[in-house]
Amino acid sequence: MKNKLFIILATITISSIITKVTETFSIESNLTFAMIKPDAVQTKNDDKIIDIIKQHGFEIMAMKKTHLTQKEAENFYSVHKNKSFFCTLITFVISDPVIGMALKKENAIQDWRKLMGATDPKKALTGTIRKLFGTNITENAVHGSDSWQTAQQEISQFFPNLSANFKEKINFNKKKEQQYV
Ligand code: CMP
Repeated sequence: MKNKLFIILATITISSIITKVTETFSIESNLTFAMIKPDAVQTKNDDKIIDIIKQHGFEIMAMKKTHLTQKEAENFYSVHKNKSFFCTLITFVISDPVIGMALKKENAIQDWRKLMGATDPKKALTGTIRKLFGTNITENAVHGSDSWQTAQQEISQFFPNLSANFKEKINFNKKKEQQYV
């Protein structure tokens, strides 16, 4: 009897651990942060880029047009603060408004990076957003998170309420979505 009870409890515990792990991985691979940079906003290519994003199966969970301050831009790109191009990058990204988005799709991080193309538009593949709309390595039309950790930080910076509970985003309801889109 004791053995049976132990087996039942162990089974319940193991299956709840498996559910949690599965949930975590599905959240991690389903969300990313995207930004339309000042060059693409200024040339009015933002609508075209948003259409391409939707056509490729991404769901826009949140979207915000904002003019970043120097401090916000330096925080956003803090990982590059020791790079030679940091000042050029910050000057560019605060030159005009940007559009930040939280995107949802299976394999969102990898798929968005693939759709953006190489950082240098000259090296980007035909059909990618940077090939279509980018000018040079700084003015390259769009940005995307390179990992789940970065995606969390970037989504948090643009959408603090949305990121309060990442699990919520998966079941993000229409009412909430309208607050951000
Ligand atoms: P992004 O995807 O926004 O991430 C960091 C940005 O830094 C990148 O796009 C480019 O705009 C910029 N960047 C990366 N490498 C270089 C480089 N070698 N020279 C100038 N800018 C760069």
